[in-house]
Amino acid sequence: MYTLRLLTQADLDRLEALLLGLSPENRRRRFCGNVRDHNITAYVQRIDFSRAQVVGAFTPAGELAGVCELAFAAVGDTSGEMAFAVAEAHQGHGLGSRLVARALDLARAAGVQALEVHYQSGNTPARRLTRRFNGVERWYGGTDCTSTVRVADGRAVRAS
Ligand SMILES: CC(C)(COP(=O)(O)OP(=O)(O)OC[C@H]1O[C@@H](n2cnc3c(N)ncnc32)[C@H](O)[C@@H]1OP(=O)(O)O)[C@@H](O)C(=O)NCCC(=O)NCCS
Repeated sequence: MYTLRLLTQADLDRLEALLLGLSPENRRRRFCGNVRDHNITAYVQRIDFSRAQVVGAFTPAGELAGVCELAFAAVGDTSGEMAFAVAEAHQGHGLGSRLVARALDLARAAGVQALEVHYQSGNTPARRLTRRFNGVERWYGGTDCTSTVRVADGRAVRAS
């Protein structure tokens, strides 16, 4: 039902629409806090494809249903950040897991070793999703958590 492929500059308006279209709770979860529309627009405009890869899942109608983003501080880095978002209508059916599995395949092929995912401690779907890929969570008792996914370990035995 979904076609997965890497996004390009030409897809950024669809990425912006996906992120702007998240419910307030999911928007807060994605960005670990409250962000306004113009912050999302600026965030999308700042994406630098020389240091980022974004895997997108498209419906047969061409709608962008979800993304998994990989971002690196510098070209060639072997560790970076991973973030994901799936539109509400498409959540709970394994799409987040498929996107992460594909992003990890790409990262592995590029020699990346570890990816950090930042989320709030109450974000159960994100916790479960990273745990599915053997993410090791660090939580210091506050609002925020970080999970480190070792790319070599993250071959999702359980991912559908
Ligand atoms: C996190 C997110 C991408 C998951 O997408 P999804 O397509 O629903 O993911 P999947 O269907 O593959 O499920 C992944 C895991 O989350 C669990 N899950 C999904 N929705 C859930 C819910 N509403 N409540 C509890 N667990 C949930 C699934 O059971 C699964 O866990 P399991 O492997 O232990 O069974 C989605 O909830 C989302 O977009 N959240 C907002 C953005 C966000 O929080 N990003 C994280 C910070 S970058």
